[in-house]
Amino acid sequence: MSEPTKYVLSDSDIPKAWYNINPDMPLSPGPVLHPVTKEPVTPEFLSVLFPMRFIGEAVSMERYIEIPEPVREIYKLWRPTPLIRARRLEKVLDTPAHIYFKYEGVSPVGSHKLNTAVAQAFYAKEEGVKGFTTETGAGQWGTALSLACQMFDLNCEVYMVRVSYDQKPYRRIIMETYGANVTPSPSEKTKFGKSILAEDPQSRGSLGMAISEAVEAAVASEGEYKYSLGSVLGPVLMHQSVIGLEALKQFEMADEYPDVVIGCVGGGSNYAGFAFPFLREKFENGKDTRFIAVEPKACPTLTKGLYTFDYGDTAKMAPIVKMHTLGHSFVPPGIHAGGLRYHGMAPHICALHAHGDIDAVAIDQIPTFESAVQFARAEGIVPAPESAHAVRVAVEEALRCKEEGTERVIAFNLSGHGLLDLAAYDAYLHNQLEDYEYPMEKIEEAMKDLPQVDFEE
Ligand SMILES: Cc1ncc(COP(=O)(O)O)c(C=O)c1O
Repeated sequence: MSEPTKYVLSDSDIPKAWYNINPDMPLSPGPVLHPVTKEPVTPEFLSVLFPMRFIGEAVSMERYIEIPEPVREIYKLWRPTPLIRARRLEKVLDTPAHIYFKYEGVSPVGSHKLNTAVAQAFYAKEEGVKGFTTETGAGQWGTALSLACQMFDLNCEVYMVRVSYDQKPYRRIIMETYGANVTPSPSEKTKFGKSILAEDPQSRGSLGMAISEAVEAAVASEGEYKYSLGSVLGPVLMHQSVIGLEALKQFEMADEYPDVVIGCVGGGSNYAGFAFPFLREKFENGKDTRFIAVEPKACPTLTKGLYTFDYGDTAKMAPIVKMHTLGHSFVPPGIHAGGLRYHGMAPHICALHAHGDIDAVAIDQIPTFESAVQFARAEGIVPAPESAHAVRVAVEEALRCKEEGTERVIAFNLSGHGLLDLAAYDAYLHNQLEDYEYPMEKIEEAMKDLPQVDFEE
């Protein structure tokens, strides 16, 4: 009998609880500080922005938190997602390695982002608010939240980074199809947006600016709207843990266990969701696995950013957290992996990196697309440019196995498909892509503007 290629679970295998890494953290991810007082935030401050249940999850020390039934019911639309053995890619690479990928692109919106969007929308509905404000870079997060809001009959106000709004009309159209209202950021709708436009009417925007606008709009609504963030925060990482929890079961079916667990990192949510359940196996059962987070050289947060306190947004309205940062004023170069262009990184990922549990590598976009195309030709799936970073490092690992003659098990998270990112593929295929390394001088410059925090841990 031939060996399986796909490991598919049934509805009843959708996890009943998320894995919360808080009680297992070897180093504290640090406090969340008020942007003005620089003191630890109170639940009252956070409750202006986030639903209470979400805030409770952020501080919870319970290892497993039950997934509400209405959320699990919606997960059934696309979960469990398949774990696929990339046998054809293994053949092309002629490697003894076994390559597996968890495929989150099967969600209706084409990425992992819906895993948390549905949970957050459910919490907002429970609190009886009118809707959410949010930001989106490349559009993946805005798309997910638009659909989740529609499912719970909530309004969705999306501030979309100007450059993506202009370059990616299809994402805007999907969001509008799901019923969202999409505004290019910076905009005239907020004080902060106006101030940016007054200085630079041609501003291309950034995720940090769009976050500021969305936060300002939520605060100004006086309780009618909450603000939703699609990455970085603890509860978001936790909602994504369904990815790794399912993958653990699927590896049992395959009778294998990963030696290396790879994923791309923007704010850190898809990687956390995939990797943390495997990290738990390492902490609890001594499993010997290597963890690799992959980022673009154009936005090298973990590999070059300082590990310090910084604001989550450009206007200094969002809380201050301890994270690797390129500075909150970071305006990213126009690389194609839009979802990897955030100036900061999830504090949990940073703490695990500092503790030596997660390695980080930064790669260029041309080799990234080279591997994405190789993957597409072998496996048929066109990866999202963000996810392609994980593909690249998986390929490099597989080639190392070939060189060394070792049969390691490589697992990576394919966080989304790239069917709405074809312009990026077009640029690669027609030699119009350029590599770009974010210069150290710019990072040093931005560090002059960090908040002065004397918080003692
Ligand atoms: C497909 C895809 N993968 C990865 C990311 C990066 O985000 P995170 O690190 O939170 O998973 C994004 C962000 O937009 C994305 O759209």
